[in-house]
Amino acid sequence: MGPGGAARTAAVPPLDDRDGAIWLDGRLVPWREARLHVLSHGLHYGGSVFEGERVYGGRVFKLHEHSLRLVASAREMGFTLPWSAEELDAATREVVAAAGLAEGYVRPVAWRGSDTLRLVAPGSSVHVAVAAWPWPTIFTEGPRGIRLSTSRWRRPAPDTAPVRAKTAALYALGSLAGQEAEEAGRDDALLLDHRGRLAEATGANLFLVIDGALHTPPPECVLDGITRRTVIALARERGLGVVERHMEPAELARATEVFLTGTAYEVQPVTAVDALDYPVGPVTVALREAYAKAVRGEESGGPARGAAPAVAGEGG
Ligand SMILES: Cc1ncc(COP(=O)(O)O)c(C=O)c1O
Repeated sequence: MGPGGAARTAAVPPLDDRDGAIWLDGRLVPWREARLHVLSHGLHYGGSVFEGERVYGGRVFKLHEHSLRLVASAREMGFTLPWSAEELDAATREVVAAAGLAEGYVRPVAWRGSDTLRLVAPGSSVHVAVAAWPWPTIFTEGPRGIRLSTSRWRRPAPDTAPVRAKTAALYALGSLAGQEAEEAGRDDALLLDHRGRLAEATGANLFLVIDGALHTPPPECVLDGITRRTVIALARERGLGVVERHMEPAELARATEVFLTGTAYEVQPVTAVDALDYPVGPVTVALREAYAKAVRGEESGGPARGAAPAVAGEGG
């Protein structure tokens, strides 16, 4: 998640004090009872894995892709989820239906339990929870755009950290970077990779528009974003060139538009990176509109691939 959420949620009750139900290890439990022990392995050693999903019209966009990534992230972190991606899809639909959620956010999370605090814990229990609640997109509605500052923190190399996994272990960096950006009066941080090349924001992938084409870092040190894949497909359908390549920060000066993609950010225009300013340009606006249609199944980048069939209680 990007740092923009905090101020927007300050007025609402804390996340552990809400009505409703959370899916925990195979069944719905009352929201306030979805707890874990303080000696849980995942809490101490950062080995938990998670997803962030959005519900549009009662359906989770790209649900199956998210469930598959959760399973893959756990594998990267050396443990196996006790549920298949299909079972996670069903659990997520159950939670969303139970909440009667038409628009909102879903957070699946998996972690090693409290069997042992040995670092090496091959046989330890693995827990999985899925929660869903109304949460508006993290930055303001509409293409206002956000302002970034380059962080002193860098995305680690693939042989330094499990960069392909969506794991808590990596989000300490994003959290630090985001906090520093906010303290500097910016909306979010831009992280470079371990070699000093452009990488991504705290919770979103980076795109530059150069000579009318999209340029984005390959998913080597950055998360292989599901929104990123969707937007690349939407751009190609529109005849836009898409170039996945490593870029030095100096290339920011060549870009005529910059935007971020992520489940929570959607297609988010960037209006400044450090001292450089950008307009909210036509390519960004077109892709933002295309994405808004795709999440509701009105575009081919939409739920067709990986979407679960509708079940009772699902709208849209
Ligand atoms: C670090 C990071 N990069 C990129 C993304 C975008 O990924 P997605 O489009 O799958 O939400 C996210 C959000 O999950 C993220 O946390």
